Amino acid sequence: MDRSRTNSGPAEDLLIELDREAGVPLHRQIESSIRTGIRAGRLRSGTSLPPTRTLAAGLGVSRGVVVEAYQQLVAEGYLTSRSGGYTRVAAPAPPAAGAGSAPTARPPVRSTGSGAGFRIDFGYGRTDVSRFPRAAWLRSVRAVLTATPNDRFAYLDGRGVPEVREALCDYLNRVRGTSSVPDAMVICNGYGQGISLLIQVLARRGARRIALEDPSSDDDARVLARAAGLDVVGVPVGPDGVRVDALHRTDADAIVLTPSHQWPTGAVLSAAARAEVIAWAERRGAIVIEDDYDAEYRYDRSPVGAMQGLAPDHVVYCGTASKTLAPGLRLGWMVVPARLAADVADAKMLADRGSPVIDQLAFADFLARGEFDRHLRRMRPVYRRRRDALLHALRTHLPDLEPAGVAAGQHVVAWLPPGLDEAAVVTAAARHGLGIHGVGPYRIASAGPGGLIFGYAVLGESAIAEGVALLARAIREVRGR
Ligand SMILES: Cc1ncc(COP(=O)(O)O)c(C=O)c1O
Repeated sequence: MDRSRTNSGPAEDLLIELDREAGVPLHRQIESSIRTGIRAGRLRSGTSLPPTRTLAAGLGVSRGVVVEAYQQLVAEGYLTSRSGGYTRVAAPAPPAAGAGSAPTARPPVRSTGSGAGFRIDFGYGRTDVSRFPRAAWLRSVRAVLTATPNDRFAYLDGRGVPEVREALCDYLNRVRGTSSVPDAMVICNGYGQGISLLIQVLARRGARRIALEDPSSDDDARVLARAAGLDVVGVPVGPDGVRVDALHRTDADAIVLTPSHQWPTGAVLSAAARAEVIAWAERRGAIVIEDDYDAEYRYDRSPVGAMQGLAPDHVVYCGTASKTLAPGLRLGWMVVPARLAADVADAKMLADRGSPVIDQLAFADFLARGEFDRHLRRMRPVYRRRRDALLHALRTHLPDLEPAGVAAGQHVVAWLPPGLDEAAVVTAAARHGLGIHGVGPYRIASAGPGGLIFGYAVLGESAIAEGVALLARAIREVRGR
């Protein structure tokens, strides 16, 4: 919803404190008070100010004093004024072209949107929410609000509403090869909350060390695990996913994996490696946390089934609607081994007393009607075309970059040739108006080639081509130095 108030009528009141003893002209005091209010965000863009006559009367000053203050602020760009219309707070000044925020040492993976002023932004973590199936979702919400008895809107147990757990079990067992029953399922606010609850439960049950893929996106897990008193250890990732030989040396009690599409490298964990990881977990009594964040999008063949289906007693399966529907839904789910399920549900209860009931029921209805399948069927070719456009542009403009990983998901990593400095490329790209992240900031301790992460989910094919052309220019500049 547009948060500006362009449709509001004139305000009657505006808090301005005048100090008649201060020796500062009254119009300056009014200016300064309004300017400060706008800068501090108390007066938002679009807010209408009182008519000059009204404000003057309220402050006990002549109208000319208020007129002078308003005119000064219009000249400075803080206010807008149309003859015969209200004086309003102006829209914030747009950022200068290409002046995007330079990537920080470790940029957030789960981007809250560009907003950075880049001409083209390959920032990862955005799903094409413009394709959110609004009409179908509305039908589900309407059905829920029409048919659900009042008592269902009361507090619930920490696992979530039975309808959505049943619908998700059917879906996951059918599409992801999980071995799930509704009682093993806990609904959470996205993977972000799921991993937080799991770390709390594992720490309380005596876990001391957690292993993460290296590189990985799991900043949250890193911070949360350390806060819970766990050691964090990275396990290097190779072309076939996490290196099991290195896992054996970690002495970890749990590992977080993205086996269907490693983030960020795009590797798939081989069947042999999956079996070895599970044997490792069984031997140690360890837990594998399977982050199945984007498995719905595999473009060249059916996705490999979830690891959870191979060892439901040792694997926690985590899914999310953030890649398929919208990150803002904050809808995620876990399939938890029986011995942990009650603890995880209790942790969820303690965290927030359960996820919103209407959203869960709507999602259950959406799944049961087959709308989720239909939406994925519509979206796969869209993302596939964007991915193809990206690879084509890379082949054309930057043939010595080496795209990695399987045809899946919403991002591609491309390795840089030796001698081309990743950070220098990222910085030069930003100067050319292109937002992109390097792989380096996502490494824990592993060394490896420089690489770039291209999130393509929200970019049309022509923007993708333009972005790669900008990158090629930036790389020429780095090479020319
Ligand atoms: C590796 C990985 N896992 C999970 C998620 C989804 O997180 P959430 O469900 O909290 O939105 C993302 C989103 O960007 C991700 O990159």
